[in-house]
Amino acid sequence: NKLDTLYRQVIMDHYKNPRNRGEVDGETLKVDMNNPTCGDRIQLQMKVEDGKIAEAKFNGEGCSISLSSASMMTQAVKGLPVEDALRMSALFSDMMLGKEIDPAGLDLGDLEALQGVQKFPARIKCATLAWKAMEQGLEEEK
Ligand code: FES
Ligand code: FES
Repeated sequence: NKLDTLYRQVIMDHYKNPRNRGEVDGETLKVDMNNPTCGDRIQLQMKVEDGKIAEAKFNGEGCSISLSSASMMTQAVKGLPVEDALRMSALFSDMMLGKEIDPAGLDLGDLEALQGVQKFPARIKCATLAWKAMEQGLEEEK
């Protein structure tokens, strides 16, 4: 249907024109995470300042779902307080489980485009890879 087509276009746009791909200058949180089911890996770099994610960039190799999700994730969390970024990650996990989610003021940006992934359980790990990296990085920061 039309919505699926639109979502597919949004995913492909992030895959072909990734936002925030590259390296963050200076002192950063670095997380290297792999998807055990396929061996693909991404490297996430973040800078946290005054309790907010000031910068987030990624590099790595993966499928269109994992890389578009990394692109959307960095776009969505940049500028957010750490607790909001973690809340968004929890919302995204719920979305992947097919649960009804309440963003409660958080701007999910392009993330909704990935909701169809829940129908393909083997790909959920692709979609959550960058989010797990973000969570791990913020945990290490504490
Ligand atoms: Fe199979 Fe990602 S691990 S599609
Ligand atoms: Fe490897 Fe999707 S197939 S991250």
